[in-house]
Parts: sequence; structure tokens; C-alpha cells
Amino acid sequence: MGYESVSFKDAIANRRSIYSLTKKSTISDGKLKEIVEQAVKDVPSAFNSQSARVVVLVKEEHDKFWDIVTAILKAHVPESKWEHTRQRMEGFSGAYGTILFYEDPEPIKTLQSKFPNYADKFPQWSEHTSAMHQFTLWTALEAEGLGANLQHYNPLPDQKAADTWNIPLEWSLKAQLVFGEPAEGAREKLADKASEPVEKRALFFGL
Ligand SMILES: Cc1cc2nc3c(=O)[nH]c(=O)nc-3n(C[C@H](O)[C@H](O)[C@H](O)COP(=O)(O)O)c2cc1C
Repeated sequence: MGYESVSFKDAIANRRSIYSLTKKSTISDGKLKEIVEQAVKDVPSAFNSQSARVVVLVKEEHDKFWDIVTAILKAHVPESKWEHTRQRMEGFSGAYGTILFYEDPEPIKTLQSKFPNYADKFPQWSEHTSAMHQFTLWTALEAEGLGANLQHYNPLPDQKAADTWNIPLEWSLKAQLVFGEPAEGAREKLADKASEPVEKRALFFGL
């Protein structure tokens, strides 16, 4: 089963936060590239800003990213809390790859000058644009049998990541999607999610 054969409905329903991931992928790197490029091309953005930027790191490059985060956290986290953080870092490092989601402020600034009435809204819409890309890729990877979890270690690694991969420093890092083939039984072991009644959360009129 893959992107082409899983229904949109099933991919949405099956997507979960999976932390127990392996250094394997269910798809080729070529397929991964295709999926990411399609998302960047087709996911909408506010006023068609096309402000989303993604950086895909796999294998050694993924390890390098989590080494950067771990080193920075080591300097910040008190010794008594380190073990918990170390284990989390080990979990992320143990995955196949990470997608870094950035927003480029340049197109946002251009839109703010062009549409001054909405100037104060564009930064928020830029966050929405990033979130749309995050959800699309999280769900698209799910449809390929990959597991993923979403992290927010920005802005800690921003500078070092910019130096390491020659990423413009102006790009603003929003989130990190860690992914890989789920460890044996990881998906099955997930607890059912507590859910507020959907009737309270979705209202319908005139149906
Ligand atoms: C906007 C957003 C931010 C999130 N941030 C984090 C995060 O920083 N770390 C983390 O482990 N999970 C994060 N999550 C995952 C949520 O905790 C998770 O999606 C939620 O509990 C529902 O569980 P599920 O993903 O298994 O459906 C985030 C999810 C969303 C949508």
C-alpha cells in the first residue's frame, strides 16, 4: 500500500505520533524526494506567498542534525533532567530522517508592503502555511507506511543548521518532522486517543 493506493480518508485516520522509529525507510529516497517536491508545489499558501521551505535530512545528515540539538541541549539542561532528554534525543537520532520546515520572511515582507491593510495578519498566515505543509507531509509519509513525530527544538539549532547545510539564516525554522519505519509493534502499541465528543467540536447548520 502506498501514497497512490491509500485513500485520503485512511491516511488521515491512520496518522499518529510515532516515537519508536528505526533507521529504515519503507520508500526509496527518490520517492521521498518526489513526495516532498509535490507537497511544496501543491500545498496552498496565504496569498500564494509560496513562503514554505523544507530541508530534508536523511541518514548521516539526519544524525548530524540531532547531534547538533543534543550538544546544545546538553549545555542548557540541568544534569538531574539530562537522562530524560538524552533518551528523547536517542529516540529521534534512531529514526531515518527529519524534515525541517522553514518559512522564508522575504515573500511575507513583499506581501505586507503590497497589502498594507493586512500587514499585521501575514506573520500568522505564514504559520498557517507552514502547518499545512507539515500536516500534508506527515500524512503523506503515513500513507507510505512510515511513522513520524513532530518536534519544536527551534530556535536552538537554527544557527548551526544554517552553517552546516548552507541554509539562509533569515529562514525561520518552525518544526521538525522526524520519520522512519516504525519499530516492530510500535503502531499497534499506541493508546487510543482521548477525544472530546466530536459533536461539541464540529457544528453543522442547514444540512
Ligand atoms: C501544532 C502541533 C504541535 C505539536 N508539537 C509537538 C512537539 O513539540 N512534540 C511532540 O512530541 N509532539 C508534538 N505534537 C504532537 C501532538 O502531541 C499529537 O499530534 C497529539 O497528541 C495527537 O496524537 P497523534 O499525533 O498520535 O494523533 C504536535 C502536534 C501539533 C499538531
